[in-house]
Amino acid sequence: MTHQLKDLQDYKETYARSIKDPEGFWADEAATFKWHKKWDNVLSWDFVKPDVKWFEGGKLNITENCLDRHIAERGNHTAFLWEPNDPASPSVHISYRELLEKVCQCANALKELGIKKGDRVVFYMPMVPELAIGILACARIGAVHSVVFAGFSAQALADRVDDAQAKMIICSDGNNRGNKLIPVKQIVDDALEISCQSIEHVLVHKNTRTDVNWNNQIDIWWHSAVDKQSVTCKPEIMDAEDLLFILYTSGSTGKPKGVVHTCGGYMVYACSTFRNVFQYQDGDIYWCTADIGWITGHSYIIYGPLLSGATSLMFEGVPTYPDAGRFWQICEKHKVNQFYTAPTAIRALMAQGNEWPDKYDLSSIKLLGSVGEPINEEAWHWYDEHIGKKNSPLIDTWWQTETGGIMITPLPGITDTKPTFASYPLPGIQPVLMNADGTEEKNNNAEGLLCIKFPWPGILRTTYGDHERCKLTYFSAFKNMYFTGDGARRDSDGRIRVIGRVDDVINVSGHRMGTAEVENAIDEHPEVIESAVVGYPHDIKGQGIYAYVIVSHNASNDIINEIRKVVTKEIGPIAKPDKIQIVSELPKTRSGKIMRRILRKIASNELDTIGDVSTLVNPDVVDEIIKGAPI
Ligand code: PRX
Repeated sequence: MTHQLKDLQDYKETYARSIKDPEGFWADEAATFKWHKKWDNVLSWDFVKPDVKWFEGGKLNITENCLDRHIAERGNHTAFLWEPNDPASPSVHISYRELLEKVCQCANALKELGIKKGDRVVFYMPMVPELAIGILACARIGAVHSVVFAGFSAQALADRVDDAQAKMIICSDGNNRGNKLIPVKQIVDDALEISCQSIEHVLVHKNTRTDVNWNNQIDIWWHSAVDKQSVTCKPEIMDAEDLLFILYTSGSTGKPKGVVHTCGGYMVYACSTFRNVFQYQDGDIYWCTADIGWITGHSYIIYGPLLSGATSLMFEGVPTYPDAGRFWQICEKHKVNQFYTAPTAIRALMAQGNEWPDKYDLSSIKLLGSVGEPINEEAWHWYDEHIGKKNSPLIDTWWQTETGGIMITPLPGITDTKPTFASYPLPGIQPVLMNADGTEEKNNNAEGLLCIKFPWPGILRTTYGDHERCKLTYFSAFKNMYFTGDGARRDSDGRIRVIGRVDDVINVSGHRMGTAEVENAIDEHPEVIESAVVGYPHDIKGQGIYAYVIVSHNASNDIINEIRKVVTKEIGPIAKPDKIQIVSELPKTRSGKIMRRILRKIASNELDTIGDVSTLVNPDVVDEIIKGAPI
């Protein structure tokens, strides 16, 4: 397995080596895996095109490294510990041996249904073991998985299926989420009504016994396709740079883009970061509460832990069902050692009061992690005090869908922690702060735009079907740099604090949302003429969505609710604006650009710092919007 950093000295030396000799460093990490053929070339890169290749010529299958490799030593160890939505239902332990067999059965079924190497398979499923099994089954046969978070709407699902030109959707009949039953298969049926011409089959896992409509031409039950299959399946031997998965994420313009990760580099990076960041020791119970629909679930529920032979807890439900003690009850029940969650969950649970965590024995916890958005001081201290009891390091991990794995984070027991600081880069990561004029900000105690100046194995390779977009979004802002879209501050000791997005992306409850995407959804309403969406500070969600909308004169009285409905239909409930203000005009420059800076200030109630509005064609509208006066 990849090297596990031991102490500060080890971190400093390893980091120094990884900068001086990145190829040597990563080659040593990669050599710890099973390869069918060693790579010809550790790294070739060009950040202008961009074109990055790691371990080119190497042949492997990631599932052999996740599963087969562990059988001899830990075949009977639990790979996944599944905790169902309903606390009265039993937890399920799946050993490495069982998981390998289930993955092989599913892989054989996929082959029988015509899925071949390179085909795209979309998942639209709740947090059940079959989701992980299906993902690994794709990887086993070289199919490319693309998981769509099951909170997205039929339209959003159809958009992603179309973009990926997927051949199959794997879903469940329904989803138990708290006390709600979500008709998952129905949403897939709706997506197929909208488009999804490329889909040949829908494989349906029976999860809730919900009634479903059935189309014999397309629909197949998971149990009838999978259960009869052999428990062995020869892995497809992949090139290191073959696609492993596509994951759609929002950007500042247009529709979500499919971030592409490839087999070799992603594998090495997911494993190396998991082992170092979580300091996982044999026998530990590790729990990441993310949904597998996001990158955190890919890298730190499935791939990182399995590559490391860990026990990864997977939870079907929500933090507040049956009550606000559910997370802590699970920590007590399974004696969780590493707990990794998002600031929005921490804030929501903090608001429910200390009596919930105080009811449970949390003494097994050795480490607390945070991910997905900036964590505010209050939430940081509450988490540290009430969950970690001030003796578990709290690591604030910064990374992105595009980076494949954690990039900047304190290392528990190795580097110190400072509230709200992601702190120091992991080995191999070279972050820089850039000034808007394109120069590097070298001083400490300074702010800048966060870029990474050298490739790491987990970096995205392209955006699916649109390489130009990848180039424009990440590699054009600064020459020879990967631009993250985030602003950051460096303190006097060189620790980094990520402040938030500097582009038109907002982070709502840790869900990444493009303002343009929400605007496009709002504009679908026939009575909407124009809209502008911005983020504003929200106590629980981190950021809320504020929409300014111009509607036609004959718009109905219920237009605000109708706008919310249209967004739910186009994207999903997670994109529903928290505040909608009907306005007569939007503040615009002479060239017709909406001045979002002003709208952000108004939404955030920072009226003192609105600044100069004289360059607008319609300066009067600013006052009108402030007064909230609809005309
Ligand atoms: O703005 C940063 C924020 O989340 C963005 C990436 O979102 P996504 O691709 O959905 O991945 C989330 C999970 C890795 C970043 O550009 N972000 C993520 N982690 C942090 C963060 N902001 C501040 N601190 C963090 N720890």
